[in-house]
Amino acid sequence: MKFNLDFFNTPKVTLGEKRKFENEKELLINEIKNESFGFLKELKKPRFTEIEQLISLLNKFENVIFLGTGGSSLGGKTLTSLNNGSSKDKETPKIFFLENVDQTTIINISDQINVEKTAVVVISKSGETIETISQLFFFFNLYDVKKIPKSAHFFVITENKKSSLKSIQESENLYFLEHSKDIGGRFSVFSVVGLVPASLSKFNIYDFCNSGVAFIERIVANSEQFDFFFLSSLYQYCLMKKSINISVIMPYVDALSNFSLWYRQLIAESSGKNGFGLTPVNSIGTIDQHSQLQLYLDGPANKFFTIISRKKLKSKKLNCSTKKNNFELLDGKSLEDLLIAEMRATSETLVKKGASLRIIELESINEKCIGELMAFFILETVLICNLLGINTFDQPAVEEGKLLTKRFLNEE
Ligand code: PA5
Repeated sequence: MKFNLDFFNTPKVTLGEKRKFENEKELLINEIKNESFGFLKELKKPRFTEIEQLISLLNKFENVIFLGTGGSSLGGKTLTSLNNGSSKDKETPKIFFLENVDQTTIINISDQINVEKTAVVVISKSGETIETISQLFFFFNLYDVKKIPKSAHFFVITENKKSSLKSIQESENLYFLEHSKDIGGRFSVFSVVGLVPASLSKFNIYDFCNSGVAFIERIVANSEQFDFFFLSSLYQYCLMKKSINISVIMPYVDALSNFSLWYRQLIAESSGKNGFGLTPVNSIGTIDQHSQLQLYLDGPANKFFTIISRKKLKSKKLNCSTKKNNFELLDGKSLEDLLIAEMRATSETLVKKGASLRIIELESINEKCIGELMAFFILETVLICNLLGINTFDQPAVEEGKLLTKRFLNEE
């Protein structure tokens, strides 16, 4: 396995809860074997050829702007920001993700680019998300003013069904790549939605997908391995029953800050239903030791912690050794030594305070490790929701707000 997981201060589990877990485990394994989940189908048969075709077109541009929000952006944004530069020899287009409709951000981006050398990829599963569609119209207007043909610059990823975006794509004769109808936004990182931007940034999508599949096959084939990783779903379920329902994710790896945003959507939108839910809180070590740790250690005991670290680097360590002033303890040390020492110190202090905590140690920050980790978090989320008896894959409550937005827009 590409990562290890240690749990500390595990909650008490009743016999009934253990039985419930065993039952859900069996159901989940069967669902995986039967490929009942849409994201599994595309993970097992990734559409590499279609992705490569689109990438070869996008590579001709200096800039590529991805329009989309929530599940239509967070996976791709995460993978793109993880690129370890394994293939830095080839120039890649500059990649932008436009997720909001705050015009200051949009002006900032459009000021940086030459639109003639820019491609716009719009991603929306439903084809109806008003923020994404309005961004698209903004760019349409920009290209129209400059009399630049849209069909050569705009690319659409959406479901192949009747929708506002699909009809725009057809009427403007834009390039089309199908968003699988079986895959929900926050589960789409292993589909074209996550893989197109990732591949454009030279992230190795083959290693990423193969590693995700291998992880799933191993836990399905080996009951002990399943428990080793997924008992943490049971523990989180038991903690939630005791109102310990805030889930702090704290990587000691800067490159994982977008990963935390991806995870935040996954767990929040999936588990927040019928009065249940894990409230995700993002932190980054060491920085947030200086902003949130006081609360974590001495505030309400309603939190569960996931610390993510990676194995200590053996080479390329940045030396911060000194014999000066009060910092003799840094003598012979590297920044890496300090980072790991602080991660261990935070974890141990939290454990001593009695907090339930898990430490996930990644072998490295690369495609294979992240493939396993994302596959793990997706299945863990499904299992938590199944234990809670809620539907993992929908988000009915946000629909009300969408309708109200349309009403308020009419009143403007
Ligand atoms: O996970 C989800 O389903 C949502 O967060 C969506 O990804 C988000 O609302 C964007 O929707 P769409 O892709 O339809 O534009």
